[in-house]
Amino acid sequence: MWHVGKVIERTDWNSRLFSLKIAVDIGPFIAGQFVKLGMEIQGKRVARAYSVVNAPGSNYIEILAVTVPDGSLSPALHLLLPGDVVEVNVPATGFLTLPELPSGTLQGRHLWMLATGTAVGPFLSMLDTAEPWQRFEQVTLVYGARLVDDLAYLDKLQTLARKNTQFCLLPSVTRETQSGMLHCRIPDGIASGEIERQAGITITATDSQVMLCGNPGMIRSTIELLTARGLHKNLRRAPGQITTEKYW
Ligand SMILES: Cc1cc2nc3c(=O)[nH]c(=O)nc-3n(C[C@H](O)[C@H](O)[C@H](O)COP(=O)(O)OP(=O)(O)OC[C@H]3O[C@@H](n4cnc5c(N)ncnc54)[C@H](O)[C@@H]3O)c2cc1C
Ligand SMILES: NC(=O)c1ccc[n+]([C@@H]2O[C@H](COP(=O)([O-])OP(=O)(O)OC[C@H]3O[C@@H](n4cnc5c(N)ncnc54)[C@H](OP(=O)(O)O)[C@@H]3O)[C@@H](O)[C@H]2O)c1
Repeated sequence: MWHVGKVIERTDWNSRLFSLKIAVDIGPFIAGQFVKLGMEIQGKRVARAYSVVNAPGSNYIEILAVTVPDGSLSPALHLLLPGDVVEVNVPATGFLTLPELPSGTLQGRHLWMLATGTAVGPFLSMLDTAEPWQRFEQVTLVYGARLVDDLAYLDKLQTLARKNTQFCLLPSVTRETQSGMLHCRIPDGIASGEIERQAGITITATDSQVMLCGNPGMIRSTIELLTARGLHKNLRRAPGQITTEKYW
């Protein structure tokens, strides 16, 4: 159902990348889920999916978005200022959530979150809940972006990594080098073993749950590598280790 949301805050990470806090009665949702945002553009409602960045339990949603050049909706969202309205389709939906992962002996000890660009959003929401820390010994977030400037929420994630010894943060930038960060696309970092070396653990079918979100090319190539190692897609009818959400 479409609700009217009101922008209450915006953060500009760079000239293309921004977050909006939108006051709306979101109702119950599960960390990792997304809503649709809609705007009337040239007489037509244009609607697109956006992951909720904040954890459940607030009367607002926060979304992280990038302006896609020549995109239909994202350039219009980029123009929104506090006080402006935007339509929000609730309830939130989606299966990239921790309750969708198998539990018990099928679960494994290590949770891997692999994200490109704005797809760090659903993982930020999950990291702000108790569930990953209760269920897994180590949670590793690999956060891939072109430039350091594109790593939204980096301070917050670095603070969490300093405070929480269960959390391993591995930012990776592909179009510049930065000391302390990886310099590879996610599938390349898995193929070379660099990501696992930095994390101090390996990805195996018995020990790992892997959640992937964002660029469909990254997801495709990573699935190929993981299936060659004996991991399987996680389906409700056939639990496995690989859970994905493609952004396009
Ligand atoms: C389940 C789901 C959740 C999503 N969550 C988010 C989110 O939290 N934040 C977000 O910015 N987008 C998210 N997206 C993508 C979003 O729905 C839109 O596709 C995006 O904002 C572009 O819309 P547009 O109308 O401006 O461009 P369109 O005219 O629809 O153009 C789409 C093209 O833009 C590119 N593109 C789309 N999204 C991205 C992206 N995030 N990063 C890089 N390139 C992209 C692709 O090349 C794609 O083919 C999500 C998509 C899905 C399916
Ligand atoms: N970020 C920028 O500087 C910039 C500038 C102008 C316009 N834009 C536009 O902004 C939008 C969002 O860009 P974005 O940088 O957030 O998202 P993106 O293009 O998905 O890139 C994010 C990360 O994913 C990697 N990646 C891309 N394709 C991959 C694949 N097939 N397999 C594995 N990894 C892959 C990128 O590596 P690579 O660097 O190797 O591609 C980068 O590290 C796009 O529409 C883009 O055209 C971005």
